[in-house]
Amino acid sequence: MPKRPVDTYSAIQVGLHWLIVVLIVAAFLLSDQMQDFEDLPADAALPLHGRIGLTVFFLMILRLVIRVRRGAPPPPETDPAWQRRAAHWTHWALYALAILTPWAGGFAFYLRSETAADVHEVLKTLLLVTAALHTAAALYHQFVVKDGLLWRMNLRRS
Ligand code: HEM
Ligand code: HEM
Repeated sequence: MPKRPVDTYSAIQVGLHWLIVVLIVAAFLLSDQMQDFEDLPADAALPLHGRIGLTVFFLMILRLVIRVRRGAPPPPETDPAWQRRAAHWTHWALYALAILTPWAGGFAFYLRSETAADVHEVLKTLLLVTAALHTAAALYHQFVVKDGLLWRMNLRRS
């Protein structure tokens, strides 16, 4: 738990946010590499898709530790209660999904497990949908509510 309330994300939190966004997009763009992965020899090197995904996993763990120890700024005071709750759960869902999706991918690849591959597919879809909702909410705040929420994740001002 954070020792005292904070009113901004730290530079590391902001940097990790955007680095992980780029890596997740890259993992999606490179997912074709994993087609027919069952046919690869057992000792085949992990394709770039998987290496990027594992990087997401480790960076998310780091980010989670920072998040739990340091905390995060409270939601804008003007937000209705349901939006605060929605943002809270969406953020934790993103942490969970971005950690569990690579896990399932790892099990699929290293254990040649069809079940894990199916779980990986469901999780990546949930990650995509949740990230899309999250992005839509961030843009809604910035351009409709106009409360400058996006500046919380601004690389230059942090
Ligand atoms: C955040 C990280 C990751 C994302 C967003 C992601 C996303 C995806 C996507 C979109 C697909 C294509 C699914 C389809 O066409 O049905 C896929 C397939 C696959 N990924 Fe990942 N992945 C991630 C991490 C990993 C990691 C770390 C590994 C392995 C160490 C991995 C192994 C696989 C495998 C084996 C498949 C093929 C599954 C199948 O054929 O059903 N992925 N992934
Ligand atoms: C793969 C895509 C994304 C993931 C996984 C992701 C993940 C997250 C997470 C977990 C948080 C909560 C941080 C915390 O409290 O520790 C967050 C906050 C935030 N994200 Fe994202 N994000 C993604 C894409 C985006 C995009 C595209 C935008 C901008 C359009 C964005 C804007 C923001 C903003 C403004 C915050 C701060 C919100 C607040 O403090 O209430 N994110 N993001």
